[in-house]
Amino acid sequence: MVKKVSIVGASGYTGGELLRWTLIHPEMEVCQITSERFAGQQAHKLNPNLRGFTKLEFTSVKNLSTDVDAVFLCTPHQKAAPYVSQFWEIGAKIIDLSADFRIHDKEVYAKYYGEHQNPGLLEKAVYGIPELHREEIKKAKLVACGGCLATSIILGLAPLVKNKLIRTDGIIADSKIGSSANGAAFDISTHHPERSGTVRSYKPHGHRHTAEIEQELSAISGGPVSVGMTPHAIEMVRGIMSTIHASLSGKTADVDVWKAYRSFYAGSPFVRLVKDQNTLYRYPEPKPVIGSNFADIGFELDQEKNRIIVMSTIDNLVKGSGGQAIQCFNLMFGLDEKTGLWQPGFHPM
Ligand SMILES: NC(=O)c1ccc[n+]([C@@H]2O[C@H](COP(=O)([O-])OP(=O)(O)OC[C@H]3O[C@@H](n4cnc5c(N)ncnc54)[C@H](OP(=O)(O)O)[C@@H]3O)[C@@H](O)[C@H]2O)c1
Repeated sequence: MVKKVSIVGASGYTGGELLRWTLIHPEMEVCQITSERFAGQQAHKLNPNLRGFTKLEFTSVKNLSTDVDAVFLCTPHQKAAPYVSQFWEIGAKIIDLSADFRIHDKEVYAKYYGEHQNPGLLEKAVYGIPELHREEIKKAKLVACGGCLATSIILGLAPLVKNKLIRTDGIIADSKIGSSANGAAFDISTHHPERSGTVRSYKPHGHRHTAEIEQELSAISGGPVSVGMTPHAIEMVRGIMSTIHASLSGKTADVDVWKAYRSFYAGSPFVRLVKDQNTLYRYPEPKPVIGSNFADIGFELDQEKNRIIVMSTIDNLVKGSGGQAIQCFNLMFGLDEKTGLWQPGFHPM
């Protein structure tokens, strides 16, 4: 039976992207989309790509209906928790795209985000990267979708950590990210004259996604994993490219790494391994995944330096948020996880 859903924070970039996927999903009916700033306006006035697909108007959150099977929360962090409490009470499934419930430990959460408003629910939330937590997501009431940078880095490293192919200290992730990651609200850093042509390091260490990256990889490893992450804002609207450097833990051949990735991602349709010498596209790059829910991952071994270089790329608005949220919804409602999501990106673009 078709499930009734609403989107809180639908006027933002993740909300708009989520709306695009929900409108073409065969098992979902979007009943409500919220925005304070655009209340009363039709969705396509803000999302011109959706003209002809919906007549929905934005509604104020003051009129938020709880008569739904599931709610997607696309609010800034520290704003989702009150809605989670509200929908938890009535028993609707909750898919939160913000960071409010990604971190299990409230002290770690406080270090990066400030005091938590509903710490009691932190341990009830399942971290929303299906490739890591598929079975738990199927039973979850509350899923906290993985952050965009975190998703690209975790997916690149998880099989290596699981198979103990790399040392778990001194891992470095260098990420490039597009401007839509900042959201739709005006910010001088994404103003065109400031962003155009930019390659800007904006948080060389201590980025808030470090908390979830280390939480998830440490759980897989069974011991602490330390990852230094440095994101760079570049001139791209969508997309993340993470280049990750780690020391090998022992003698390792290409075949060992292939085996680790293939077995970890067997049954994960949205992860593609890219390592091909006979094409221009030898390693993953953002353009071929834009508009799709794929995570493309590749690697190269540097035997001379005893290290591995992993390249991992996603569309921050799809596998990094809206698409991943739909993938979690599919699992939570017993659907094939590809439902409504199985489409390639664009080429050329
Ligand atoms: N952008 C990305 O690539 C990305 C990727 C993964 C995760 N995320 C996370 O997803 C969340 C949304 O990101 P975004 O980029 O879509 O941000 P955004 O473009 O700034 O949109 C934020 C949305 O939240 C609404 N909102 C703000 N305060 C609210 C409140 N108190 N109650 C209800 N709605 C509220 C805004 O609506 P009105 O102001 O119109 O009411 C707007 O629709 C953030 O937590 C972000 O960290 C973003």
